[in-house]
Amino acid sequence: MSLSQPHGGKLINRWNPDYDYADIAQSIELDDIAFSDLELIGVGAYSPLKGFLSEQDYHSVLTDMRLSTGEPWSIPITLLTTEENAQTFQIGQFVKLEKNQTVYGVIEVSDIYLPDKEKEAELVYRTTDREHPGVKKLFERDVVYIGGDITLIKRMERDPFPDYFYDPAETRKIFREFGWETVVGFQTRNPVHRAHEYIQKTALEIVDGLFLQPLVGQTKQDDIPADVRLKSYQILLENYYSKDHVFLGVFPAAMRYAGPREAVFHAMVRKNFGCTHFIVGRDHAGVGNYYGTYDAQKIFSHFTQEELGITLLFFEHSFYCKKCGSMATAKTCPHDASDHEILSGTKVREKLRNGESLPPTFSRPEVVDILISGLREKVV
Ligand code: ADX
Repeated sequence: MSLSQPHGGKLINRWNPDYDYADIAQSIELDDIAFSDLELIGVGAYSPLKGFLSEQDYHSVLTDMRLSTGEPWSIPITLLTTEENAQTFQIGQFVKLEKNQTVYGVIEVSDIYLPDKEKEAELVYRTTDREHPGVKKLFERDVVYIGGDITLIKRMERDPFPDYFYDPAETRKIFREFGWETVVGFQTRNPVHRAHEYIQKTALEIVDGLFLQPLVGQTKQDDIPADVRLKSYQILLENYYSKDHVFLGVFPAAMRYAGPREAVFHAMVRKNFGCTHFIVGRDHAGVGNYYGTYDAQKIFSHFTQEELGITLLFFEHSFYCKKCGSMATAKTCPHDASDHEILSGTKVREKLRNGESLPPTFSRPEVVDILISGLREKVV
């Protein structure tokens, strides 16, 4: 076996720091989502995408979860601007992509189109409820979509974790240097707890390496900040993981909270980073009660294994069972719920923000200390 082939067969590279944009007048100011998407398209993390979705691809992704060329793709990667700005654009023209008036890329405009945001919300998020953080964001974004291939000219700042940014070409090289033929990817946006560790290590028993890739792009207000989460991973790895079998790097994308659709997206992206396997546990990328516990696993049945090109490892809801004296799931533990240590994400965040400890059966003490002190520093 060898590392996964990139999605679509070839790792895209649209990065050209020497690109001359002096003659380009028009520009689009990127929001946080498009800003991180530009970088990720540029380095090939979103292969086979070469740019922001055309109108044809957008509709195909919404209705079929595929690009118009047939590859599975579940989340619309879109660039938006105001009606006023869009009126000045023409097809075939080049437009600068800016963040805080600094140029980070250009797009060759191929499509200018109006989305149906209600339909997009219903199909991608399975709800049009504006309380859903992904749906809320969708409706807050601008109104006109611009499609076209991009060139990434300037890379995003890597603060506060410069040592953890790796492009797909780099992780592939690193995995090979480790001598890994099989690598399982792990997506996370929450403070790390024992259930995460349990499913990661269970997966690791059947593959060579674990690529831990916490998402550090835009998240919702009450999620734990990325730098605090990353520190908790560093301490966990130092104390409880074998250095020869785990690699930590960040995933700078924005969180969509699209549950099942986002799980497919997360898997395709990790395949581009070289992973051969990907973990999908309980309510992956979910929020509130919008998705069923295992919807993010069931959605993969829409595709063949060959189309996906990555092996999914599905995990049951895991917890610590006091009677078993170990981590367990409904599959492996016969005891009552009252013997299980289960805390909701909201409860965990609330406790940590109040400086309250969590039981060692729920989270490693070193991790809890880091989380509490990290959050305290943010408040001061
Ligand atoms: S996510 O939004 O990035 O999916 P989180 O960081 O909580 O959130 O989860 C990371 C991965 O671990 C996901 O695949 C999720 O399904 C899985 N997971 C989280 N908690 C559990 C649990 N208690 N049991 C099984 N899987 C879990």
